[in-house]
Amino acid sequence: MITKDPPFRSKNFDKLFIAAKQVRLKAYVPYSKFLVGAAILTEKNNIVVGCNVENAAYPQTQCAEATAIGNMISQGDRFIQEVLVIGSGKKLCSPCGGCRQRIREFAALTIPIHMCNENGFQKTLTLNELLPEAFGPENL
Ligand code: THU
Repeated sequence: MITKDPPFRSKNFDKLFIAAKQVRLKAYVPYSKFLVGAAILTEKNNIVVGCNVENAAYPQTQCAEATAIGNMISQGDRFIQEVLVIGSGKKLCSPCGGCRQRIREFAALTIPIHMCNENGFQKTLTLNELLPEAFGPENL
């Protein structure tokens, strides 16, 4: 059962939070100045991280979640158990539509996605709540 309000914490929350907070500081964001860090807990209980990588051709920007997923696949892990994202500022940094679909490729609809800012927890939703009626590998 995923609750949406503090003091909810998964047992992996603190490790994911620290990892995402660290990688967030490596974000390449000369255009938006909006740093994002993402941490994934994989099926092997590895924590894999990624930050956003912007580009002078703005649409070529890569979100933090996309970087983390690429890193996860590159290191040989294949499934996402949990995601934590830390954005910038006080407003909720929820994964963009494209990243919800990217997560869907490698995750069950029941996984928790924790949204945070630098100071801590803001909200947790399941992938199904973020991407209802999702199209995934099983739909082919
Ligand atoms: N961004 C992410 O990295 N992840 C999200 O889920 C939302 C947006 C990045 C993309 C861009 O570098 C910056 O935040 C502002 O949109």
